[in-house]
Amino acid sequence: MRKTLIVMGLVTLLAGGVRAAGTELDTDLMQTIEDTNLSLTSNIALKNAKSSKAEAAELHRMFTQVESHFVAKGDAADAVDLSKKSKDWAGEIVQSVDSQQFEHAQELAGNISRACKTCHNFYKKS
Ligand code: HEC
Repeated sequence: MRKTLIVMGLVTLLAGGVRAAGTELDTDLMQTIEDTNLSLTSNIALKNAKSSKAEAAELHRMFTQVESHFVAKGDAADAVDLSKKSKDWAGEIVQSVDSQQFEHAQELAGNISRACKTCHNFYKKS
């Protein structure tokens, strides 16, 4: 498990790329999103309902902030849409874990991880 976590961390680091300059999105928030998302993914795999729910709820809250950022920024309809979807998926993970549907929760976590990359491709200058 430890090894898997390290590998996943490296993959995300590589995918994250170089710090972008000139955008005002809080990078601390993004770092916390990254840590929480990694931990959530392994907690879902471990069927740790308590931590999965807490972390999914945390992601839901943080994606609400990301959404507000892009709404305020303007001219970023796709980013607003991606943060809204990620927020909804995080909320759905809470419900899935509540009803012990860990497989579905895992699919939703996969959707969130793909949304990170999609948004970074368009909105994160490297
Ligand atoms: C709606 C768009 C969007 C989504 C969704 C998104 N990000 Fe980001 N992310 C950004 C942008 C824009 C930046 C660049 C911010 C900057 O450097 O000013 C960024 C930067 C980052 C960084 C670099 C922070 C730093 O210290 O420079 C990390 C790590 C990161 N995101 C992780 C994630 C992860 C993990 C997810 C998904 C769980 C995610 N992001 C989802 C838009 C998004």
